[in-house]
This record gives sequence, structure tokens and C-alpha cells, in this order.
Amino acid sequence: MITKEEPYDRGAMAPHAASEATPSSPDSPSQAAPEAPAEADGRTPRRAAAGWLASSRLASSRRPARWRPSNELLRRLAFTSLLANIGIVATGGLVRLTNSGLGCPTWPECGDGSLVPTHQVSWHKAVEFGNRTLFVVVFGAAVAVFVAARRRTPTGSSLRRWAWVTLLGGPVQAVVGGILTLTNLNPWVVCGHFLLSMLLIAAATVLWWRARELAEPSEPASPAGSAERAAPAEPPPLPQVIRRLGVGTWVVTYAVFCVGTVVTGSGPHAGDAKAARLHLRPGAVAQLHADLVMLLVGLAVALAVAVTALGSSALVRQATRLLIGALALQAAVGFAQYFTHLPIALVELHLIGAAVLAAVVTAVVLALDGPFATGNVTTGPPGHAYVTDPFRT
Ligand code: HEM
Repeated sequence: MITKEEPYDRGAMAPHAASEATPSSPDSPSQAAPEAPAEADGRTPRRAAAGWLASSRLASSRRPARWRPSNELLRRLAFTSLLANIGIVATGGLVRLTNSGLGCPTWPECGDGSLVPTHQVSWHKAVEFGNRTLFVVVFGAAVAVFVAARRRTPTGSSLRRWAWVTLLGGPVQAVVGGILTLTNLNPWVVCGHFLLSMLLIAAATVLWWRARELAEPSEPASPAGSAERAAPAEPPPLPQVIRRLGVGTWVVTYAVFCVGTVVTGSGPHAGDAKAARLHLRPGAVAQLHADLVMLLVGLAVALAVAVTALGSSALVRQATRLLIGALALQAAVGFAQYFTHLPIALVELHLIGAAVLAAVVTAVVLALDGPFATGNVTTGPPGHAYVTDPFRT
């Protein structure tokens, strides 16, 4: 079961409460410092400590309240971070498909010993540098979510943990991108770079999903309503086998991604004329890729049928149908590009489709596991209402 994050009211109060320690508390200076000789200004240490406590209280009462983002802002920031991660896959694809992979031949400099292109800015250099620059947006979004998650949720919350993952994942991906440049676009490093992006999209999806689950304070309920609210509607979880089917679908999706990157490594779009190729038969690897896709489609259809038959929530049914729609489109583009000799527009579409699918399949797993898995949950603990709009950002 997904654990709901609690609003951070108590946590936010804690540091403040600590500073409110009264002189009679065990940690107070009155016990820690028995009467001692007067200091140069004539005050005893005890009186000096009491004066410090009083002035720090005065200062903290004057200090503006710590900024605390709303749940809505946190959700929006998390969604922006997810979109940025999908966006950088699209621009990374453009780099490869326009043969701009070595537009900046070094890393972290863009050639000429400078971080930015200096003179003779070619088209390839502009495309590659544009992709590097987009990293700033992805990382900026991750930092913003990280800060908002820390301000909004208590220490140890899963939201904070996933915020760490997206925050650290960006710089790791930048280093892998650097290795890619320094190895002259080694196709195995290309695979790793792409797959890491898919994992970061999954992490950004979990973060957004957790942010969506934060309880919103609701209108105070009437006495009759509060009796209703006092019994939280906790639906029974879906059978374990269905949740495993969801996880299996996720794993096979990522296996399809892996084999897809090998197809790319064997194909013509290397990113630069100098880049090495995998010595595999592209037709054979593409066949394996398509076979795995068939397995994936079978799993996704089985999942959609099962959740419908079990009467699961609208959210779960919508998520699984969205998955099937995304898979159908992606497979159609895959076949179309294969039979039309890989025109770059279709290959780019296939790449973006994979990035969107990474988010959708992760959302399906989360939906299967969450409090919305069965029944229509419209009430929560007293004073809180769950978000029921499935794809609200
Ligand atoms: C759900 C379905 C599919 C998914 C998730 C998927 C995913 C992928 C991924 C992640 C890549 C690597 C992209 C890259 O490294 O830039 C790829 C490449 C490729 N896929 Fe698919 N694919 C799917 C269906 C298909 C189908 C049905 C075909 C038909 C044969 C196909 C043909 C190809 C080809 C030919 C490439 C290599 C493109 C190139 O050389 O740049 N895909 N796919």
C-alpha cells in the first residue's frame, strides 16, 4: 500500500518548539549552569543565558514565517520536473538524429577550452550545446521540487527520498553524457544514457504521484458529516497477483527499452559518422524487439481485462487503458519506421513515445498499489479529502 504523506504541520512546529524550551526544562541553562562568577559586564552566566534566550525569542517572533509551499505548488513542480525529463529525451534524440553527437567534441567544455561555443558555431554545435543547456532546466526543476518537498513533508517521507533520487540522478546523467562524448558515442554508453533517462522519468513519475496523494485540508464537515468522515473509507487492496502483473508489465516495458537501444546501436543513426556501431544484424535485433513488444501488449491487455473484471476504481481502469493506447501508438510508429527505412521524424516520435510510456507504465504500477485501487474513494481521515481526479497535476 502506498503510505500517504501527512501534512507537515507538526514537523514544521518541531524546531520552533525546541527553541521554546523554558528555563525550568531539563536542557535549560538554569540547570546546566549553576551560579558562577560574574563576567566582565557584571552579569552571571545564568543571567546572560536568560537574556540570550529572551532576545532570541524576540528575534524569532519578528522573523518572517518559513516559506511552506502548498500541495498544489508541490504537485505542479513535480509535474514540471517530469515534463523536463521527457523533454530532454526528445532533444537528446534530435542530437543523435541530426548527427550532432560530437558537435561539442569535449566535455564539460564545448571544444576550444570553453564551456560555451565560442567561435565558428556550427549547426551541430548549436544542437548539442542546446541539449546540454536543457540540463540546467531539468536540474533546476529537480532542485525546486527537492526544496518544496523538504519544506512540505516530514523527514524520512518517501516524497523526500524520491526528491533525492531525481536531484542526484541529473548530475549522474550529465556525467554519463560526458563519458558518451569522450568515448566518441560508444553505442553501449548510448544505451546506458538512454536507459538512465527512462529510470529518471520513472523516478519523476513516482515523485509526482506521491505529491498528488498529499491530503488536502477540506472544508470543516457538519456534525453528521464528521461521523461519516470518522470512518475512513479504506478500500481493500487489489489481489497480489494483479499487482505482480503490473510490476511484470513494468519490467517487460524496460526490457523492450533495453533491446530497442540495441536496435539503435546496430542501426544507421549513430549520432556522428565517426561513431562505432554494434556488429549485430539490425533485422534480427529488431525482430527480438518486436517479439518482446508482443509479450508486453499481451501483459497489458491481460492487466486491463483483470482490473475491469475485478471492478477496480476508475483511476486504475483509466491508467491501464491509457497504457494500452500508448503501447498501440508506439508499436504503430515502430513498425512504420522499420518499413520506411528509419526516417528521422518517425524515429524521433518513437523516442518521445518511449519516454511517455516510461511515465505511463510507472503510473499504472503506482495506481495498482494505491489507495484508489478499488472502489471510488471520496473521503479520508477527518478533516482531509483525498484527491480523486485521476490525472490532475
Ligand atoms: C511498445 C512498443 C515499443 C517500445 C516501447 C519501443 C522502444 C524503443 C526504444 C526505447 C528504442 C531505442 C531508442 C533509442 O535508443 O534512441 C527503439 C528503437 C527502435 N525500435 Fe522500438 N519500441 C517499440 C515498438 C517497436 C516495434 C513494434 C518496432 C517494429 C519493428 C520497433 C522498431 C524499432 C527500431 C527499428 C528501432 C531503432 C531505431 C533507430 O535505429 O534509431 N519498435 N524502440
